[in-house]
Amino acid sequence: MSQDTLKLLVSQAAADYVLAHTPAGAVIGIGTGSTVNYFIDVLAERKVFGSRFSGAVSSSNASTSRLQMHGIEVFELNQIETLPVYIDGADEINPHGQMIKGGGGALTREKIIAMVAKTFICIADVSKRVDTLGHFALPVEVMPIARSALSRKLLALGGMPVLRTTSNSTPYLTDNGNQIIDVQHLNITDPLTLEAEINSWPGVVTVGLFAKRPANLCLLASAAGIETIQ
Ligand code: 5RP
Repeated sequence: MSQDTLKLLVSQAAADYVLAHTPAGAVIGIGTGSTVNYFIDVLAERKVFGSRFSGAVSSSNASTSRLQMHGIEVFELNQIETLPVYIDGADEINPHGQMIKGGGGALTREKIIAMVAKTFICIADVSKRVDTLGHFALPVEVMPIARSALSRKLLALGGMPVLRTTSNSTPYLTDNGNQIIDVQHLNITDPLTLEAEINSWPGVVTVGLFAKRPANLCLLASAAGIETIQ
């Protein structure tokens, strides 16, 4: 079974779950990435917006465009007081629901929406499941002025910091106008402490470790079916 098929299957399962567990009229949180793109398309196909849900808040310009392309209303987070559910993918997820996120560059807005949401549902194919986080390079969104100083600090932590670039070899810029350092070769045995440590450094906007606010529920697709981890 291809990875794309798994992404579609997990998106269909997530749509079933969200429809069964979310109050009518709610605004729902939508993340970023290729798995979430399938999820957006599944919800659009089922025509749930406008009827069952009022609209969405989105964690990136890319997801906002995709939602709007389907005619789905996208609200600013500042307009919303409660968000029953946030659905997003992950680059890695461990058995505690802690994740590395930010492969798509949207980690800051993802973390903000995850903070507001009552329930965070992670959707992924089984290749994202790990025992210990860190095989996937840890994204850290930084203010450009702090890039070199923070790279040295990340190196001192034992990682290999690499500035994310575009295909033109220019620094990749997030939707917030910041840069991303991807930290390779970390073996993250204490995600909570590492998240707090990196977040405490001036110039760090967000570290892509979601340990303090893990997923409440994870739907993982494999050839054997959908596994639910709570
Ligand atoms: C974007 C993210 C994504 O959730 C993560 O990169 C997974 O993406 P995909 O579903 O394409 O594998 O954190 O910032």
